[in-house]
Order: sequence, then structure tokens, then C-alpha cells
Amino acid sequence: MAGASLLLVNIGQLLTLKPGLTHERPRRGRELAELDIVKEAAVFCVAGRIVAVGTREHVETHAHSAGPNVETFDCAGGVVIPGFVDSHTHPVFTEPRLVDFEQRIQGNTYEQIAKAGGGIRASTEGVRNASEEELRQHVLSALRHMQKSGTTTVEAKSGYGLTTDAELKSLRAIRKAAESWNGTLVATLLGAHVVPAEFQQRADAYVDLVCNDMLPAAAREKLADFVDVFCERGAFSMAQTERVFEAAQRFGLGMRAHVCQFTPQELSRLGRFQPASFDHLDCLTDKDLDALAKQETVATLLPGASYFLAHKYPMARRLIDAGAAVALATDYNPGTSPTTSMPLVLSMACTQMRMSPAEAITAATINGAHALRLASRKGSIERGKDADLAIFDIKDYREICYWFGTEKCRATVQNGRLIVH
Ligand code: NIG
Ligand code: FE
Repeated sequence: MAGASLLLVNIGQLLTLKPGLTHERPRRGRELAELDIVKEAAVFCVAGRIVAVGTREHVETHAHSAGPNVETFDCAGGVVIPGFVDSHTHPVFTEPRLVDFEQRIQGNTYEQIAKAGGGIRASTEGVRNASEEELRQHVLSALRHMQKSGTTTVEAKSGYGLTTDAELKSLRAIRKAAESWNGTLVATLLGAHVVPAEFQQRADAYVDLVCNDMLPAAAREKLADFVDVFCERGAFSMAQTERVFEAAQRFGLGMRAHVCQFTPQELSRLGRFQPASFDHLDCLTDKDLDALAKQETVATLLPGASYFLAHKYPMARRLIDAGAAVALATDYNPGTSPTTSMPLVLSMACTQMRMSPAEAITAATINGAHALRLASRKGSIERGKDADLAIFDIKDYREICYWFGTEKCRATVQNGRLIVH
């Protein structure tokens, strides 16, 4: 239980992510490489919070004064980092999209397949027909896989129901899954994922439904923290995205958007909303890149989708060098990124986008927390923050990004609870 005390000892490398840096703003430029590594370290957690971090002697003094009921875990000289914050996932679906997969292998693009009735629309029937309990099971199963890779906080989007009922059912399934998971879940309404078949040629009428029905209902039931829009050719225009954001603002919900995945967009039009995050950015223009580098909005890069679609990768190096606040996430979904593994995403970020292992780890922890506006509680290992940790069976933190397709995460601590895999 979260009330228990937990002492992690024998940590070969503890990546604290530099507690001294402010939580007010995300990490940029050179700050992305500042991990602040403590060797021969220990961490002490009480009631779901971190109470002491540092060398073994220092931490053990705290633990001894806490009395006899301290659970001790031997990290066997391994590496401990803040649990991954996977700030972009779509876990509420029922089936893999294998037809799309084979069609792409034959040479059809994601956009062509979507136009022909595949893509997101091919996942709606399953979600509309499923019960809330069935959807909860799907979400929970994804969360359990994520935690095995070291993830302790997840943003989960609706977006495959595309009716008010089915979107609310998806959000309730997320909330229910959160109740039976030890980690932390943040919910996002993605009613504006694609225009459903029954609204074909009436996209604006569907946007009305999202703004006037779905969004107010989700806000009323407190089912969502954020609202997301897929702003793209074949999905929603910039003007429609602005309308959804205006509605989100009216209801006090945070904003994030899928942008520039396949085509460039005029991102500056969304600046006034101060979205928490812009995600994908594979086709970002130079002008928008420079503007984004000066904004608080986090640039969340999703290399899993580039890999799975054999599409170009976002320009991580240029974004970081220009000063943008970069985060990394899985984009777990059945169409473009069927992976739950943050270490795999970090591997792609290093080999395909030339991020250093240190930059990738920062992007996947504290900057992911910023993308969810949770950085005061999540994303670094320091006194007072939530006890969310990932323990790896490796000697050097760079191995997290080096091995791929083999899970090296041995255990996680989620809100103070130890889960050994
Ligand atoms: O992030 N691009 C839009 N949404 C998802 C794909 C969803 C799907 O194809 O099922 C993405 O890539
Ligand atoms: Fe996505």
C-alpha cells in the first residue's frame, strides 16, 4: 500500500534528472543532457512520496529513523531512473488493424488507406460495440505492458468511438482502468480524431457535435484533463482545430494537438491557446520550428509512428539545437504505432533522430511530465515528488537506449508501490 515505506539500495547509477532545475518550465537545449547521476545510491519512499535521495549512508539514516517496517529492495548495482512518462497513447481500441498493415506493405500509404475506409474509421465499430468493461480490460492490459518497460505515468486518449456515447464510454473505461492500476493516468478527449462515416461531407456538423455535446459532457463528468485534435489533411482543418480549442478553453480543459504528421500546418494560429503539447511534427516548416523553439508548448516526438509507417522522422536535432522543449512518447495505437515500449522509442530516437541517450531519457521523463503539466509531481527523483521509479538490470544508463527488443526493466515503483516484473 502507498502508506508503506520502501528503501531501494545498491543502485549503481541513479539518474535524478537534476532536482536543482526549476519545474516551472520544460528542459531545453543543453539542459536535456543534464541527468545528474549519483553512484552507489539509495532512495527512500514513504506513503507514495520520495523522502530521501542520495548516497547509501545518507539515505539509510532517514530509513532507520522511520522504524522497523521498511521494505528493502536490492537493485543489484543496476540503474534507476524516474518512471517513464508516456505522454501520448491511444489505448482504447479492440483489435489490431492487420488489413491496413498488409496494405501498407503492398505500397499503399496511411492516407490512401484511410481514404478507402481503413485507418481510424476501421477501429470505430469495435469500440462502439464493446462494453465499457471490455474497453477497460484493453486499456488495463496495455498499461500492464507499459509498466513492464518502466512506464509509470500514461496519457490515454479516447478517439475511436466518434459518437458522444462511445467517446464518453471510452473515457469512463480509462477512468476505471486507472482505478485498478498503481501508476498515474491522464485522460484526453480526442473526439476530433477523424470525421466518422455518418458525417461524411458534413465535417463542420461533426465539429459542432464535438464542441457542443461531447466536450461539455466530458467536462461535466470530469472525464478528461485535455482535449486533442488530429489537425491534418483528411482529418480536421486548422479552422476546425481552432473551434475545438475555443470550446476546450470555455470548459477549462487543457489542449494538445496532432500536427504536421503528413503535411505542414500554420502552427502559429494555435499559439494563442498555449497548448500543453504539439505532437508528431514530422513535417514542420523552418518558420514554425523557430517559433516553437521559443514557446512553452512541448514538442512531443513519436518515432514509433515514423518507424511503423516507414515515414520520415521528425527533426529532433534541429528542434533541440534551436531550443525547443522536446518530449518522446510511444503513440501506442493500432494504426501507426502498436508498441507499448518506451525503451524501444528511445532506441529509435537515438539511432534515427540522433538524440543522445541522455537527451532521450530527459525527453521521456521530466519533459513528458511537462507535456502533461505534471512536472511538479512527476519526472524527476527528488524529495517531495511522487515515488515513481524504474529499475533496470544494466550497469550503464546508456544501455536503456542501446538494447532494443529486449526488456531490461526489472521493477517499477508506482506511487510508492513496488512491482517486480
Ligand atoms: O497518432 N494521427 C492520428 N492518430 C494516430 C493514429 C491513429 C490510428 O491510425 O489509429 C497517430 O498516429
Ligand atoms: Fe497519436
